[in-house]
Amino acid sequence: MTSEGVDDEKRRFLTQAAIVVGAVGAGFLTVPFVASMRPSAKAQALGAPVEVDVSKIEPGQRIIVSWRGKPVWVVRRTPEILTALPTLDDKLLDPRSEQSEQPEAARNEVRAIKPELFVAIGICTHLGCSPVYRPEIAPADLGPEWKGGFFCPCHGSRFDLAGRVYKGVPAPVNLAIPPYSYISDTRIVIGLDGEKA
Ligand code: FES
Repeated sequence: MTSEGVDDEKRRFLTQAAIVVGAVGAGFLTVPFVASMRPSAKAQALGAPVEVDVSKIEPGQRIIVSWRGKPVWVVRRTPEILTALPTLDDKLLDPRSEQSEQPEAARNEVRAIKPELFVAIGICTHLGCSPVYRPEIAPADLGPEWKGGFFCPCHGSRFDLAGRVYKGVPAPVNLAIPPYSYISDTRIVIGLDGEKA
């Protein structure tokens, strides 16, 4: 196993920080809590970082992690998903995510540090509902041009699998991406921006 983007100083910081380990599943794969590192309610309220084992997320699967009281999605994107993303650009409001919230390391066309792993805050940028994960291609209710994404049931906003919002829907900007960083090939920490840690 190799580490990426973490120097010795960051390792010390990570060790000292109150890292919260765990994930909350919602009908999907769950990453079990490590009981000895379970966060206190106060630590959660303060927004302690959350460490997540991403090694068991299957291609196309999403897990949901709680960070600062918000749902954070982690999706393992398939090569097919990544191939489809650029074909959607002309249907999107901000395809290059110039007006969107994301860490610098994820300011790219797939909005991720590593393309295969998509991390986003699962809150609609319209009025805060939780969009539904709809990875299917062209389901009857979403139409033949749907290539997988997130659909908000409250007022119909649509986002692709990079969290980019479609034109002509109520949501004004792309889904936000939280700060996160890799501490190994299989573990990420949500709430710690690798560039700032
Ligand atoms: S809250 Fe999602 S479309 Fe309105």
